[in-house]
Amino acid sequence: MSLSKPGPMSLVPFVSVENMMRIVVERGVERTLVELADYIEEDFRRWPQFDKTPRIAAHSPDGVIELMPTSDGRSYGFKYVNGHPKNVRSGRQTVTAFGVLSDVDTGYPVLLTEMTILTALRTAATSALVAKYLAPKGAKVMAMIGNGAQSEFQCLAFKAICGIDTVRLFDIDVKATEKAVRNLQGKGLNVVACKSGEEAMEGAQIITTCTADKQFATILSDNMVGPGVHINAIGGDCPGKTELHRDILLRSDIFVEYPEQTRIEGEIQQLPEDHPVTEIWQVMTGVAAGRTSDKQITLFDSVGFATEDFSALRYLNAVLKEHQGQQMLDMLADPDDPRDLFGMIERYGKAAEAL
Ligand SMILES: NC(=O)c1ccc[n+]([C@@H]2O[C@H](COP(=O)([O-])OP(=O)(O)OC[C@H]3O[C@@H](n4cnc5c(N)ncnc54)[C@H](O)[C@@H]3O)[C@@H](O)[C@H]2O)c1
Repeated sequence: MSLSKPGPMSLVPFVSVENMMRIVVERGVERTLVELADYIEEDFRRWPQFDKTPRIAAHSPDGVIELMPTSDGRSYGFKYVNGHPKNVRSGRQTVTAFGVLSDVDTGYPVLLTEMTILTALRTAATSALVAKYLAPKGAKVMAMIGNGAQSEFQCLAFKAICGIDTVRLFDIDVKATEKAVRNLQGKGLNVVACKSGEEAMEGAQIITTCTADKQFATILSDNMVGPGVHINAIGGDCPGKTELHRDILLRSDIFVEYPEQTRIEGEIQQLPEDHPVTEIWQVMTGVAAGRTSDKQITLFDSVGFATEDFSALRYLNAVLKEHQGQQMLDMLADPDDPRDLFGMIERYGKAAEAL
């Protein structure tokens, strides 16, 4: 039995994993990805309005725990996210997350949500949005290296946002590829399981690398990448954790989210501090050029930036009204007299004694 009723200002909407799944199923995955990409683009286009900082990372031998805060002056958002490639062996996700959106004027949270699913959606939506600006015109075939938790989201985002019709899958673990093939059945994509990275590359105009390994890995070697392709490199997102051979970087025009963070975490940690990169928001606002020739290799050195999570929180907050089922959490103390926090506990104690 509960001895106190939550006050009117104590309740914060909470989106559980089940509620998130319901929202995605009710809206449809592809529609969710397209709508989310619109929110992400809107926020990239007003980039100067955001408070920005490289994410705050706590590294350990097997992984990292990160906090990703940002604010546009009206709302504040942060995500807690981990990255532990070995987790899969104990039945856990490599990446899990949750996040909060708050009102800057009062500091009160307006939303608390799971963000494991939301991160997969926002990462895929960002990748495809960026590719819309950088990939060769009319690209239809994508190589998808790494067929873990993120992979189907990536494939569907590139279908819905960039119009690709074929994905060529490769993973060192054949079971991961079989799972992705199963999940992508009947989704309107031609799905080809490949036995090697080289085979996956055949005829691909877009290459997505989305593997998890805490080391300087070489998922793509220089000879695997021909002229004119767009590379969407997702998995190199921590110091000491990269996917591309350095020579590929030297042949590519490199696009990043926030250079201050990417130089620490992205593929470009392999290059000197002053190696030129283009910020993707500048391509979206027309300040910088994106793809300028058919021969050019464009590389999106993706690490995931806080504004993308902010956009995802903003999107979820907007669509929540159209879906039933979120819970209200008794999360904020709300005494009758705001200064009588102690008295609220005393009264609670007396009510408990009187029982
Ligand atoms: N850039 C971003 O915004 C962003 C967002 C989310 C996740 N990530 C990163 O994306 C990566 C994938 O995440 P996930 O949740 O799908 O992880 P996951 O563990 O579910 O899947 C990773 C897959 O990569 C495969 N793999 C490992 N080494 C490989 C190799 N050499 N060649 C081919 N396949 C290989 C594994 O077998 C596994 O199936 C992680 O490194 C994660 O940190 C980046």
